[in-house]
Amino acid sequence: MSEEHTALVQAPGRHRGAGATAVAHPNIALIKYWGKRDEELVVPRTDSLSMTLDILPTTTRVRVDATARRDEVTLGGVPATGEALHRIVAFLDLVRDVARMPQRAVVDSENTVPTGAGLASSASGFAALAAAAAAAYGLDLDPTALSRLARRGSGSAARSVFGGFAVWYAGSGADPAAADAASYAEPVPAGDLDPALVVAVVDAGPKALSSRVAMRRTVNTSPLYGPWADSSGDDLTAMRAALLRADLEAVGEIAERNALGMHATMLAARPAVRYLAPATLQVLDSVLQLRREAVAAYATMDAGPNVKVLCRRADAQRVAAVVRDAAAGTVVHIARPGPGAHLLPAEGR
Ligand code: DP6
Repeated sequence: MSEEHTALVQAPGRHRGAGATAVAHPNIALIKYWGKRDEELVVPRTDSLSMTLDILPTTTRVRVDATARRDEVTLGGVPATGEALHRIVAFLDLVRDVARMPQRAVVDSENTVPTGAGLASSASGFAALAAAAAAAYGLDLDPTALSRLARRGSGSAARSVFGGFAVWYAGSGADPAAADAASYAEPVPAGDLDPALVVAVVDAGPKALSSRVAMRRTVNTSPLYGPWADSSGDDLTAMRAALLRADLEAVGEIAERNALGMHATMLAARPAVRYLAPATLQVLDSVLQLRREAVAAYATMDAGPNVKVLCRRADAQRVAAVVRDAAAGTVVHIARPGPGAHLLPAEGR
């Protein structure tokens, strides 16, 4: 077991080797994670902050199978192949390494969110996998250790371990073990905000370029990356204060500028990374129009063309109707703050 893993290990569960099922929800960043300082350990360059949603969960069952010669992974009833399979097997290898158990696993995952469309499917996916695999392999992890483990699958998954608002620390230190130990998410205190997030799906298809590849290219080639990363630190400080005083307008303004700044860094990458589509801009225009009509509505976009609009719960239906009509074919979902990753009670076996 490599040294950086040791902090993850706690007393093995009593049902070492049993199956476990976990549920996790996607989270949407209000202060974005964009750029790694350690690719292998998935340690980010900047702190980020998100809201976990109460919709579009992933449910994942992991069963350790002493007789299996390789991991068997099914995603939405279809056997996983290629890069998706590779990432999941690599993650299971990490769990096996920590648990000191070589046995392979049978993994069955159901995603209600379209995969790879910039709708945080990897966040809910790896948070659920981390919780289920840790339990199945008998690791008894506290939430911080579970967040660090989920991070290794996909950075944003570190935040889906927690419900409500969560901050994920970039940590510091050049030493890999120290960097790994310092990079985890935790809940963020917030006042009485009563927020909703309207998810406007303008295109549910998979993105042309993975966020992993796109953020690497941005860090390596975009002259705007450094200035954005610096200003993102100030955005985070302002965001924490705005959340505490339950100032939805300030939360929205900061989130919108942080996201637009992230997309600016991508547009300046060489070659440019452009996730924003014509329908994205139509939805953004409708958000501006809502604000002109005195509705507090603020947009954020991830590695895809879809738009998430932060607003008050009381305005959510109106916001959803306006953004749905902004671009033909747009499908809307209304989300509220949701729960962190959790295990389902063991089935009667
Ligand atoms: C734009 O967590 O999918 O959604 O760590 O390479 O798996 P990897 O990336 P991922 O990136 C998410 C980027 C984002 C912003 C965010 O969620 O903070």
